[in-house]
Amino acid sequence: MSGNFPDTTLDLRHYWMPFTANRSFKAAPRLLVGAKGVFFRSADGREIIDSLSGLWCVPAGHGRPEIRQAIVRQFDELDYAPPFQMGHPVAFEAASRIASLMPAGLDRVFFANSGSEAVDTALKIALAYHRARGEPQRTLFVGRQRGYHGVNFGGMSVGGMPANRKAFAANLLPRIDQLPSTYSREHQAYSRGQPEWGAHLADYLETNLIALHDASNIAAVIVEPVAGSGGVLAPPKGYLERLREICTRHGILLIFDEVITGFGRLGAATAAERFGVTPDLITFAKGVNNGMVPLGGVVARQEVHDAIVNDAPAGIELFHGYTYSGHPLAVAAACAAIDLYEKEALFARASEMESHFQDLAHALKGERLVQDIRSVGLAAGIDLEPRPGAPGARGYEASLRAFDLGMWLRASGDTLAIAPPLVSERAHLARMFETLREALKTLP
Ligand SMILES: Cc1ncc(COP(=O)(O)O)c(C=O)c1O
Repeated sequence: MSGNFPDTTLDLRHYWMPFTANRSFKAAPRLLVGAKGVFFRSADGREIIDSLSGLWCVPAGHGRPEIRQAIVRQFDELDYAPPFQMGHPVAFEAASRIASLMPAGLDRVFFANSGSEAVDTALKIALAYHRARGEPQRTLFVGRQRGYHGVNFGGMSVGGMPANRKAFAANLLPRIDQLPSTYSREHQAYSRGQPEWGAHLADYLETNLIALHDASNIAAVIVEPVAGSGGVLAPPKGYLERLREICTRHGILLIFDEVITGFGRLGAATAAERFGVTPDLITFAKGVNNGMVPLGGVVARQEVHDAIVNDAPAGIELFHGYTYSGHPLAVAAACAAIDLYEKEALFARASEMESHFQDLAHALKGERLVQDIRSVGLAAGIDLEPRPGAPGARGYEASLRAFDLGMWLRASGDTLAIAPPLVSERAHLARMFETLREALKTLP
C-alpha cells in the first residue's frame, strides 16, 4: 500500500475528497507538497513524475515564473472585479487571446470556472440560441456513450459514464439521447492516431436519433473530439466530418468539449484545428491557463452569439454567469500561459514529439495484462485486463503501484491514461513508460 505521511499532526477527517476512495486514501495518504517542471515532490521527499499533466491541465509544466508573475501582478493591481454589469481589461484581453487560437468564426468567449461549468454553459447557450431563433422546442441534447462532460447536472446527463450517473439517475435532465461509443476493440485494437474503422457510427445520429426524435426537437450534439476520461478514444477517420454534416443539414448545434483537447494536447490549439472540423461551440478549461487558477469557458460562433445577444430586447440578454466569470487572477494567468505557449511554440513541440511518444506507448504491447493501447497527440490510453469480478480494481492498483515507484498517472476503470506535459523531454517520457512497465510487472 502507498503511504508517505510524515506529518502526524495533520487532521485528515474534514476534507471530503473528490473522486477519491476517501477511506483507503486516509488510511495511507499520498500527499504532494511541491511541484516544478514535470515533477511533483511527495511529502516523504520523493520525486514523482507527472505523467498526466496534473489532471490534463498543466501543458507548460509546473512552477512557471512567467505565470506566477502575472498572477502576483494582477493581485497587486486588481484582485477581484464583479463581472456582472462591470468589466476589467484583462478579461477582454484574455477573451481576444483565446479567440485568436480558435477556428475561424468562433470568437465570442463566455467565461466560467471549470470544465463542468463550461459544459453546462454551452448547453444553456444552445437552448437560448434556438429560443432566440423561434425554435424553442429544440430542447433535446445528444451525448455519447463513454463521454465525460463533467459532473454538473447538464454535463452528467449528456455524459456516458455509468458510474457517474448511477446515484443521480432519477434527476438527470429529461431530454437526452446518446450516440454509440466509437470504440470497438475488435476493429481498432492498438490504433495509433485516428482508427480507420468507425466513421459510419456518426450516421446513427441521422438514422436513429433524428429518425426517432425529429431534428426539429434536437438542440445540440455534444462530443469530446477525443474522449479522454472514457479511455483516450480518438475519433475514427471521417467520423467528426459526418457528425458535422448531419448537424448542419438539420440545424442542430455541434458542441466540441475540448476541456482536455484544447491548448496543445493534440499538437494544435484545438482538436477542431487538428481534425479540420469546426463545431458551433467549443468548451475549454484546464490548459487555458496551465491549470494555475480555476478557469473554463465556451467559445461560440459569432452567429450563435449574435442570435442571442443582438436580437434580444434591451437589457441582460443571457441570464447566466458566475461570481468568478473572468476572475482577474484566472484570466491574467491565461494571458501569461498563452504567451508561454506561443513563445515556446509548445503546440508544435507536442506535434513533433507525438511519434516518439506513441512509439514508447505502443512498446508496452505484449506486457502482461495489457489488452489494448491507443494514442493520439500526446495522450495514450492503456487497457488492462480487468480482474474477474472486480472491474476497475486493477487500474486503481496500477495507479497506486506507479505512485510507489515515483509516477503519477490516473486510472479510469481499468484504463490507464498518460498525457505528459508538453514540455517533457525524451528522458522524461522514457522514465514514465519504464516506470509503468515496472508497475505492471508486479501487479497482482
Ligand atoms: C472533456 C471534459 N469535460 C469536462 C470536464 C470537467 O472539468 P472540471 O473537472 O474542470 O469540471 C472534464 C474533466 O476532466 C473533461 O475531461
